[in-house]
Amino acid sequence: MDLFGKGEDAAARIAHLRREIERHNRLYYELDAPEITDAEFDALVNELKVLEEENPKLRTETSPTRKVGGAPAGRFPAYRHKAPMLSLDNCFSPEELAAFDARVRKALGSDEVGYVCEPKIDGLAMSLEYKDGSLMTGVTRGDGVTGENVTANVLTVKDIPRKLSGCVGCGPLPAEMTVRGEVYMSKADFQDLNLARDEEGLPPFANPRNSAAGSLRQLDPAVTAGRKLSFFAYYLPGPAPSGIDSHSEALALLEGLGFKVNPEIKKACGIGEAMDFCAGLEAKRDSIEYEIDGAVIKVDSLALQRELGFTQRSPRWAIAYKFAPRQAKTKLLRIEVQVGRTGVLTPRAVLEPVNVSGVVVQHASLHNEDLIRQKDIREGDTVLVQRAGDVIPEVVGPVLEERTGSEKPFTMPASCPECGSAVAREEGEVALRCTNASCPARLREGLLHFASRDAMDIDGLGPAVIDQLISKGLVHDFADLYGLDASTLASLDRMGGKSGTKLAAAIGASKVRNLGRLLTSIGIRNVGSATAKLIAARFGDIDALGQASEQDLLEVETVGPVVAESVVKFLRLPQNRALVEKLKAAGVNMTEPRAEGKGQGPLSGMSVVFTGTLEHMTRSRAEELAEEAGAKVTDSVSSKTDLVVAGSEAGSKLDKARRLGVRVAEEREFMEMIGEKAVKDEGGLF
Ligand code: IVH
Repeated sequence: MDLFGKGEDAAARIAHLRREIERHNRLYYELDAPEITDAEFDALVNELKVLEEENPKLRTETSPTRKVGGAPAGRFPAYRHKAPMLSLDNCFSPEELAAFDARVRKALGSDEVGYVCEPKIDGLAMSLEYKDGSLMTGVTRGDGVTGENVTANVLTVKDIPRKLSGCVGCGPLPAEMTVRGEVYMSKADFQDLNLARDEEGLPPFANPRNSAAGSLRQLDPAVTAGRKLSFFAYYLPGPAPSGIDSHSEALALLEGLGFKVNPEIKKACGIGEAMDFCAGLEAKRDSIEYEIDGAVIKVDSLALQRELGFTQRSPRWAIAYKFAPRQAKTKLLRIEVQVGRTGVLTPRAVLEPVNVSGVVVQHASLHNEDLIRQKDIREGDTVLVQRAGDVIPEVVGPVLEERTGSEKPFTMPASCPECGSAVAREEGEVALRCTNASCPARLREGLLHFASRDAMDIDGLGPAVIDQLISKGLVHDFADLYGLDASTLASLDRMGGKSGTKLAAAIGASKVRNLGRLLTSIGIRNVGSATAKLIAARFGDIDALGQASEQDLLEVETVGPVVAESVVKFLRLPQNRALVEKLKAAGVNMTEPRAEGKGQGPLSGMSVVFTGTLEHMTRSRAEELAEEAGAKVTDSVSSKTDLVVAGSEAGSKLDKARRLGVRVAEEREFMEMIGEKAVKDEGGLF
């Protein structure tokens, strides 16, 4: 079998891989301009390692598998590290982590090893040399032996102490001490920096790591000082100061000396606990305020670390557990333009499907035309796609090296892609809008929003049904929904009798939603659900709100002049008034318990969490009832929670409530507590 394709043999493949790895190392370490993702780089190194193991004759001392990083870029004076700055071996699965533990235990002849588990910060490694407690030198990693002396810039990083504070009970410190750690930029500071660069017309940094590296390599320290860089200390190389026998003690010492040590760090007895740490850390990756790309698992005992020692490239007592990559490369097939419920035209990338950290991404937001131009994204480009938390995936930028010349620059259409009407840009806005108020795309998106969970919460009214309702001319506005009967709905494609009845009931049940939800649903510009709730609670019903002036609205908490103007304008427009009247005539509730009466019910002052599937009402209806009864509804269970309402298949929240001794009620009990007349959401009694 030809493993390498195109007749390549092992020697040629090894040579090719070495050249490529060296090139990518230079791009990454020296130019802060990686062309490939970390995962792709790791794959190249792994392939080379395997080939070298299979072909011992082809091994060389100069192979990139035997050294780390590229040579220093030369802009800053080269500085030889007192102790080499090594890298870490990577692993990518719990099995590989278990194999690391097995190696460690075998070498030590022990059954269980104590580890320290740390987040792997996605920044750049820094070596700080202190003499008699004063910071003398700050050096980047470079090739691991020689780095760049960036002391003047390091002195501007707020988390890096210039003088080590006296540490109670620390004992005498060595006259010379080296501290290693990571310089990084938080996600928020990275975003602020890019916003500021955008305003100055400068290209954005691709990610926080690049921006930290770029900021630290500024020739003018004043520029570095203006960038918000942070630092975590995580390693004391060389002989330990007296009284320090473990890595965890070394971290405590660093903290005592005035360094910032990562608060997520935990000790683990055995690899099982270390695996739990990795899983937990990956799960909360998005809520951490800086980028991490994995966990680092280190043997805690320094005596055991010494016993295990180092390979040429990395310590045998530590390993990096890398999370699945969140950036991936793929082809941008074309750019399509979508029309939103307010008529805004948004370009969207249609991608060759690609797996980004476990999620297949096919579409990514491109925000607006200006951004496409700024990033120079073209149809046909190979692009880098990233996913951050729950946010929809976005295109980071094109991979310029892979351009063939056939890529096409993009311009926004001059007319609405849905209805052909003219598009226009409102004064002071970046967005283009379709000028046709009854554009079918606007109606479709508007209906989807109307039916959504935070709005009228109509279960079963999704895109497929809405598309048919519009194309068959059955619905021209929101109010038309209330004229649909079960048999009409059942006649739609893929519906049938049962679903038709269910959807008709769900539409009917939505009539009792309160005014806050109605205001959220009908698409008043600048009014989201939180603001809508406050406005509704203040005015109590639609007629009072219809009479309100901008001045009256300004008295509502969080309402400013823009929202006040939007609401008044909306409710004065004759077509909107007609819509409200039509909804009223259909029996839609237009009232809200007034603010003064709110919070005074049987659950007054209680913090309530819902979990599991409720049988007799939707979750949002239950939340609404709880709020009307005076409760504050939250998402997570803590010792401050007063009540957990558990439906069927309740999971971890219920377990936690039991552990914490929080009161748990079943759905029926909850209904009794609030005195609800047991009205089923679908309109029937139970
Ligand atoms: S320990 C000899 N701990 O990961 C061990 N490294 O791929 C020295 N890194 O060069 C490294 N977070 O830049 C260690 N908690 C952590 C880390 C960490 C990030 C970086 C560091 C290192 C690279 C290895």
